[in-house]
Amino acid sequence: MLYDTVDRAKVEEMVHRFYADVLKDDILSPYFTKALGSDLKSGKWHEHLNTLIGFWLLMMNAEIGYKGDPFPPHAFLGQMYRETFERWLILFKNVVEGMFVPEIAQKFYKKADILAEQFIENLGIDEEEED
Ligand code: HEM
Repeated sequence: MLYDTVDRAKVEEMVHRFYADVLKDDILSPYFTKALGSDLKSGKWHEHLNTLIGFWLLMMNAEIGYKGDPFPPHAFLGQMYRETFERWLILFKNVVEGMFVPEIAQKFYKKADILAEQFIENLGIDEEEED
């Protein structure tokens, strides 16, 4: 049964599933293992997962908790391409569509898609490809 509500436990499950998939992905895993290592149970990953749980609760439920700025860390991850973001979005879409009813899955996806586009713009990715 797909979830038709969003709460902390469901966001925790989503975030854990998503990053487990990310670590198995050839394109995405190098960025994450370089920044955080490859053990989802490590302290660094624990911190990242908690940050992302707070981030998604803010995005989806306007729940106060995440006070960061999502973009800055992405400026220091090495070269990323439109393809990197497209892969991130595909994995994310698969996870949210597998867990939530379409209306909620689409809301998650739309937020991610908007931010991915902002990151791509901030990183100047499309301009570089035109050179
Ligand atoms: C190419 C795609 C992406 C890659 C490779 C990537 C990778 C990473 C990594 C490695 C970190 C941890 C950095 C650190 O702590 O040193 C991070 C943080 C984060 N990412 Fe991404 N990311 C991607 C796309 C996205 C998208 C589309 C979103 C938004 C939906 C997002 C949201 C975040 C947030 C909220 C943080 C935590 C920022 C903070 O510390 O406050 N990421 N990302």
